[in-house]
Amino acid sequence: MNTLSSLNNKRIVLGISGSIAAYKAAFLTRLLIKSGAEVKVLMTPSATAFISPLTLSTLSKNEVHIDVVSDKSWNNHVEMGLWADAMIIAPATANTLAKLANGICDNIVSAVYLSARCPVFIAPAMDVDMWHHPSTQENLKRLQSYSNTIIPVNKGELASGLYGEGRMAEPEEIITFLNGFFSKKQDLIGKNVLVTAGPTFEPIDPVRFIGNHSSGKMGVAIAEELATRGATVHLVLGPSKLSPNHNNINVIRIMTAQEMYDKCVEIFPDCDAAIMAAAVADYKPSTVATTKIKKKKEDMSIHLSKTKDIAASLGKKKNKKQILVGFALETNNEIINAQSKLERKNFDFIVLNSLKDKGAGFNFDTNKITIIKKDNNIRKFELKSKKETAKDIVQELALLL
Ligand code: CTP
Repeated sequence: MNTLSSLNNKRIVLGISGSIAAYKAAFLTRLLIKSGAEVKVLMTPSATAFISPLTLSTLSKNEVHIDVVSDKSWNNHVEMGLWADAMIIAPATANTLAKLANGICDNIVSAVYLSARCPVFIAPAMDVDMWHHPSTQENLKRLQSYSNTIIPVNKGELASGLYGEGRMAEPEEIITFLNGFFSKKQDLIGKNVLVTAGPTFEPIDPVRFIGNHSSGKMGVAIAEELATRGATVHLVLGPSKLSPNHNNINVIRIMTAQEMYDKCVEIFPDCDAAIMAAAVADYKPSTVATTKIKKKKEDMSIHLSKTKDIAASLGKKKNKKQILVGFALETNNEIINAQSKLERKNFDFIVLNSLKDKGAGFNFDTNKITIIKKDNNIRKFELKSKKETAKDIVQELALLL
């Protein structure tokens, strides 16, 4: 037994559905047992056509369950759902994904899934076209929105002879995924958090815009830290080169302040918290030219009008349980300006960046922040990487949640 593995003594339910990749479930079971986990295997009836229950009961050292109703107990699915520290469904076929996403429980795997209170990891396996089909992608999105973790598929040769995405992750990769999960603090599971990040671009004409230098790095680092701690993150991201890839992060790309406002207003009511890290344009051209503006006079002016203040709008809408976190980027009278924003926008705390601090602000990989709370408690942090800074901010939020 590997006492160093974070899977040691963990109770794992492994659900297997009917795919050619089911043979990998034998290796996965072996690796789980070697890591010190206790494993109970469930199979859909069609999975038994691909791999023998006897192989799996021998490897797992436990009885394999195939029927919802056993002669020993009528409700073994409830018991198993409550027993497990984690449930893994590997391989999960397109059919199984559809059942899980829609609460259909006509077999032991989907019945235990519905009864499970533990984190669920799903390792899909299917042919490339099935994988890319919009209905499969919708089911995956829905399963993620229920806080399940989808273990990414691999690209390669498939059983059909086609090449593409759809290969189930290798057993070693699934073990690495689980180890990563169990070795991290997962205290934000079940929490929904809205994060805004990046700049906004306000069009002047079809080729020009008003923007700013925000890279989105701070907001994306916050989204990743929240996701790592188990939260479901809705990241409303302005035009940024970054493209976070985490199962718990739902990235919503927008361009303008109005688009960011619309998405935030739609998403916020279902969230436990929102962190407003975007550098939203305060003004936009009052009219957008439909054709490219031609160079004519020596000077020209563009009339601007105010954009909606997204943070202030959410501050007005938020209920007593929701936590709202804002940012303030200041160049002078930093604390006073930040405190006034905290009050004006009804934030629970505000993260202050001063452009006077070296290594803080746009495009740096580092940041130096001060957190100011509602009760005017002020805490200054050292210059750190944005990743480490994100941990400090998320920790402050986690205490309030
Ligand atoms: N913010 C927002 N929507 C806007 C402007 C700002 O959601 N239209 C949010 C930012 O994401 C940040 C906070 O409000 O969390 C403060 O942003 P900042 O630009 O510093 O404040 P402003 O209210 O725009 O004040 P000023 O530019 O005058 O300092």
